[in-house]
Amino acid sequence: MARSDTMESSFRFGDRWRGMRDFLLSSRRFQRWAAAFPLTRPIARRRAADLFDLCAGFVYSQVLVACVRLRLFQQLQIGPLAASTLAARSQVPPEAMTMLLEAAASLRLLEKRGGQRFGLGPLGAAMLGNPGIAAMVEHHSALYADLADPIALLRGEIADRQLARYWPYAGSEAENHLGHDAISPYTALMSASQPMVAEMVLGAYSFARHRCLLDVGGGDGSFLIAAGRVAPHLRLQLFDLPEVAAIAHDKLTAAGMAARATVTGGSFLRDSLPRGADVVSLIRVVHDHDDENVLALLAAVRAALPAGGTLVIGEPISGEAGTDAVSAYFSMYLHAMGSGRPRSFVALRELLRRSGFADVGSHRTRIPMIASVVVARC
Ligand SMILES: C[S@@+](CC[C@H](N)C(=O)[O-])C[C@H]1O[C@@H](n2cnc3c(N)ncnc32)[C@H](O)[C@@H]1O
Repeated sequence: MARSDTMESSFRFGDRWRGMRDFLLSSRRFQRWAAAFPLTRPIARRRAADLFDLCAGFVYSQVLVACVRLRLFQQLQIGPLAASTLAARSQVPPEAMTMLLEAAASLRLLEKRGGQRFGLGPLGAAMLGNPGIAAMVEHHSALYADLADPIALLRGEIADRQLARYWPYAGSEAENHLGHDAISPYTALMSASQPMVAEMVLGAYSFARHRCLLDVGGGDGSFLIAAGRVAPHLRLQLFDLPEVAAIAHDKLTAAGMAARATVTGGSFLRDSLPRGADVVSLIRVVHDHDDENVLALLAAVRAALPAGGTLVIGEPISGEAGTDAVSAYFSMYLHAMGSGRPRSFVALRELLRRSGFADVGSHRTRIPMIASVVVARC
């Protein structure tokens, strides 16, 4: 049997099997039976809970937004407080505040502590340790505005998308001329969320073996500073759009790294990258761009690196353990933004090989939903 016939018949078998499964799962009679039968009951309950979470996700998110805007996690950091105290401080009627606190407790953001008091829950406490999450939660109002009519978004019928305005370089032909007001909101958001990304990337790949690191699309320099701290001998270079580079220059100076760092402003789609580094990093940069621009970016990186030089890409990668929901999120997010897409390791490897990179490999990070690492050589 030819290979294509074998594949065709295995597809047919898979489709038939899944057709039977879907027929059963969509039957009300089967659903009633599965919920009643002791061996299938846990699966039926799990599936009902999964579906409920999908339906209720927006409500959960808004409970979180309310907690963030009312700074409940910060207020509870020093210890539990009575619902009435939080109500008075927040100018929210006591019954409404109690309802919010109970909702947040059921989502494990808070915890009931007895005597009408509430304290931090495991997820609320974790939020405090990662201020970048609260910044993303606030920023989501722009995403949700664009997603209010998802069909119009998918059909390209929303002319003025908030995310396209928020990320003005996406799809722009004049990214080099973006002013300070255009770049500072996203640069601040990236800076707030960078520590958890740096932790993943630097935990998975050691820059200590290198001499000079060029961080392309390096934002305000937060990643470069973190890398410079773990590898004190490393010379540092940063390249980003001119107004972003100016912010990075000030931040690197404030971090006491001005003497070992050089900062260059420009567009990686039009300008050549500075020479001299033996390793280049692209942190949360590739997924922002369509393939054509990624190929232009990789060509610029390759031209800047010496033979044997290393490229390190750090961003969430589709298909890694626990990233299914993250890929769904990024697909819609980047669609609203107007360029880019989440890519699998195979898709990235293909673009890297087409750009002349070799030895493409992936390095495990502790939490792939925050970032995975792909390394390639010139
Ligand atoms: C999503 S942010 C990531 C920033 C930083 N690497 C981080 O992880 O915090 C993408 C960065 O790429 C920069 N960028 C986008 N297009 C660019 C271009 N054509 N040339 C240079 N930098 C660009 C943006 O200004 C921004 O700082």
